[in-house]
Amino acid sequence: MFDSGFGGLTVLRGIREKCPDISIAYLGDSARTPYGNRSREVVTKYTKECCEELFSRGCNLILLACNTASADTLRTLQQDWLPTLSGEKKNIIGVVRPLAEEAVSISKNGRIGVVGTRGTIESGAYVDEIKKINMNANVTQKACPLLVPLVEEGWINKPETNRILRFYLSSIKSSNPDVLVLGCTHYETMRKLFEKKMSSKCKILNTPDVVSRKLMDYMKRHPEYEIKKGGETVFLTTGSLNRFSELGSIFYGEKISNIERIC
Ligand code: DGL
Repeated sequence: MFDSGFGGLTVLRGIREKCPDISIAYLGDSARTPYGNRSREVVTKYTKECCEELFSRGCNLILLACNTASADTLRTLQQDWLPTLSGEKKNIIGVVRPLAEEAVSISKNGRIGVVGTRGTIESGAYVDEIKKINMNANVTQKACPLLVPLVEEGWINKPETNRILRFYLSSIKSSNPDVLVLGCTHYETMRKLFEKKMSSKCKILNTPDVVSRKLMDYMKRHPEYEIKKGGETVFLTTGSLNRFSELGSIFYGEKISNIERIC
């Protein structure tokens, strides 16, 4: 699994609950996080470097748990890079498609809200994927660039965060969606706030649950990637070990140790 930093650990947690027996290496590019405001070129370069590292460690299937990386780079890496690799069959998958599928399948009124980083929203990836499945869907999206730093600073329960979220959600609420996609790894930690702000008729997707369910299904359909069993988890970071352990443990929901720093 790859993420720009720590947020993808919420997804790892979900996967671990459903698939305790597969072995996973999680690489967080915490030295260069956040990716959310970076250009597509930079996100592609960083994501590719991290995927190279994971492939070199024997991973055959990489899940980009990061929405920004999934939205900005997945297609480029799949189409332009993977075919040039030799050796065992490898693939990279992301989180945008599974969340788009889920949103369309449970929406009754066809109105879907999406929140994410600036990169994710400006890429239009969620709109594209949702419309590929239901061309009549009405998607309202909003970039919420202040939320990632607020979460990482532990400011979720501050009144300022409440006001900022109210501002971000106002246009989405006016479009009256019955499904909201939390299209950023960090937003799951603010779920209660999102629930308070949105109408009770709006279902807020649980990203770790949806992604882990769809991943299991994918692995069943693609045995060719030969996922290693044993339930081992390896944590890799490009940044500070202490920071990864402290912040990562909050996102993961349990103490993380045995972290390896890669350069
Ligand atoms: N992991 C990123 C995402 O899901 C959020 C943090 C960042 O901006 O790097 O979009």
